[in-house]
Amino acid sequence: MWPRGPDHDAASKALWSPRDPATFDGLVHYATLAANSHNAQAWRFRATPQGVSILPDMARALPVADGDHHHLYASLGCAAENLMLAAGAAGRSSALEFMAEGAGRIDIALADAGTADPLFDAILARQCTRSDYDASPVPVVDLAALDAAARVEGAEVMLITDPARIEQVLELILSANAAQVSDPAFAAELKSWLRFNASAAIETGDGLYSASSGNPTLPTFLGRFMFDRFFTVRAENDRYARQLRSSAGLAIIHSERDDPAHWVQAGRACQRFALQATALGIRHAHLNQPVEVESTRPQLQSLLGLGERRPDMVLRFGYAPPMPRSLRRPVAAVIEG
Ligand SMILES: Cc1cc2nc3c(=O)[nH]c(=O)nc-3n(C[C@H](O)[C@H](O)[C@H](O)COP(=O)(O)O)c2cc1C
Repeated sequence: MWPRGPDHDAASKALWSPRDPATFDGLVHYATLAANSHNAQAWRFRATPQGVSILPDMARALPVADGDHHHLYASLGCAAENLMLAAGAAGRSSALEFMAEGAGRIDIALADAGTADPLFDAILARQCTRSDYDASPVPVVDLAALDAAARVEGAEVMLITDPARIEQVLELILSANAAQVSDPAFAAELKSWLRFNASAAIETGDGLYSASSGNPTLPTFLGRFMFDRFFTVRAENDRYARQLRSSAGLAIIHSERDDPAHWVQAGRACQRFALQATALGIRHAHLNQPVEVESTRPQLQSLLGLGERRPDMVLRFGYAPPMPRSLRRPVAAVIEG
């Protein structure tokens, strides 16, 4: 029989709780609570004389879903944003610079006399909510707040609430999703990051926990078997269409240029959007298929009239109850000496 796992609720409660943002470990804790692709946590943190460096962990890259490492650097940007908000909460200012040499890294210089940003207060409550929403609209004043919060140098958000427009983007989401689901390499990579039960999620502290996506928890062997049977274009497309049609709108994060420095900025914009949404009681989830599949990205770019700007991330937003949280590896596992 499938052994009952340790208590996922207890693990997530302990993780999603405050730390002292005045310490290096505290800053890293808040950084690791950021959104990140497949919850692979492809990041490492180093204390520097000026502050903190965030480095890519290429051993945790996603060669199929993210061949160019766009999502990896965007995830580092999400972590950087959380870290800078935490520094602000401890009264410190921060300045970010992307260093392109080698595999690239983010340097964050910390100084005295920073101010707290209320978005910090949303870090512990933010989650990607992959469920059906209640189809109610977001008030215009809240849309304006989302738009303003997501503005960073070189990246911003486009909010789409017109149902006809949403259907046009949905078409691209479904065609890109069909391409990914029918690619055995994509399915195998995704399957390797799925955590089918609480024990597996707690043991690794990473990956995509079934219950966080509204799926039943199962023994790992059975979960893998069911995934092979039920991960089909039809089932996945039906689910995404239903979920998007239950949402209040779409948020497209887009940036000035298509290079790692701007992917980081796009990640920061995305994290700020997610935190502002959380602060307003608005849920969000990613639907990135059309930016991940090379052939649909230019179609999305032209549909949205983005010109030369790169569409970086696609998210839906709306209202729904919370879902079980995702976990993280301990801070000690991501710190470099
Ligand atoms: C760059 C990036 C790409 C992502 N792509 C997807 C995606 O395509 N589908 C999805 O459901 N979630 C996606 N996510 C969300 C992550 O899976 C999620 O952040 C991670 O599992 C941790 O969960 P949490 O955000 O609820 O803490 C993405 C997140 C980032 C930052």
